[in-house]
Amino acid sequence: MTADHDVVSLFTKELQLCGVGQGQTLAVLSESNIRADYAAAFLAAAEGLGADAFHVNVKKRPGSYFGPGNSLRGHQGAIEALKRTDIVIDLMGLLWSKEQTEITNTGTRMLLVLEPIDVLRRMLPSADTRRRVEAGERRFKAAKTLRCTSPIGTDVTYRLGAYPIVTQYGFTDTAGRWDAWPGAFLYTAAHDDGVDGTVVINTGDMLLPLMRYVTGPITLTIKSGHVTKIEGSGLDAEFMRAYMARFNDPRAFAVSHIGWGLDDKAIWEFMGTTHLGPHTGGQDGRSFYGNVLFSTGPNTEMGGKNDTHCHLDIPLRGCSLYLDNQLVVENGRIVPEDMRVPGR
Ligand SMILES: [Fe+2]
Repeated sequence: MTADHDVVSLFTKELQLCGVGQGQTLAVLSESNIRADYAAAFLAAAEGLGADAFHVNVKKRPGSYFGPGNSLRGHQGAIEALKRTDIVIDLMGLLWSKEQTEITNTGTRMLLVLEPIDVLRRMLPSADTRRRVEAGERRFKAAKTLRCTSPIGTDVTYRLGAYPIVTQYGFTDTAGRWDAWPGAFLYTAAHDDGVDGTVVINTGDMLLPLMRYVTGPITLTIKSGHVTKIEGSGLDAEFMRAYMARFNDPRAFAVSHIGWGLDDKAIWEFMGTTHLGPHTGGQDGRSFYGNVLFSTGPNTEMGGKNDTHCHLDIPLRGCSLYLDNQLVVENGRIVPEDMRVPGR
């Protein structure tokens, strides 16, 4: 397959941010012919930068899915080849699987790329994106508690310190570090029993990956790290109750990661106004500037033991977020100077 010139030049910029160049070995990982155009363009971009680049392609298994359901599982030869590289471009979605950890534990860095080209182009990160996310990371690491409030009744507190801070700024040039392009946000999880309070999911907030904007409030009661009640008379509350119940897994109701979005190029209204909207991976929703990303379900991405398959990412608008009583987000606006984009 010949790679499109514009796409190769976009991918070249991304690989430069990832520190790819002479002396670096890069592998593109894909399944069957999915994103074959991306694979060709990444190989062309990497070669143009002087890297030693190759393609690992495995057959897509029927019923395979992101993370633990990936098609790489059991292909030990391919895994060994990936472990010997400096960077893997994951076009498949290993996402917090044991295969991903096995590869990154050897010092190989990994970049996940699943979004459509239009989204990748609009949200191409920069060194400044990283600077702002890392400014957030320093504050987050030092904090013992996180509290989130909103004018319609959210008031929830997280006891921190059990799990690391995960940053995403859209590229990676650090050995063993995973990131995804695009998206700028950061998060951690509380102690497993360390979340208490109320979260009110308001009109305009999202249920991801269900790709829905909520049209009426859903009130969650949270006790000792678990959602104990989901109240609301609207369709969305009903939808959420039915979806979560279907997994028949009490661990689905655990509270998962919490953090905030710093991506000024991400669009809150993307599902209604951008070309592919609901058919994207939803990175706009997870990372838009000033959102508080609340989530339920597994905590394996922070190193926890809950690996339930029921995971909801729920970006909230207009909230305030405090780290040890210091304001980080105020009614959806980023407060600390070192995290802010001028004029936002
Ligand atoms: Fe999540």
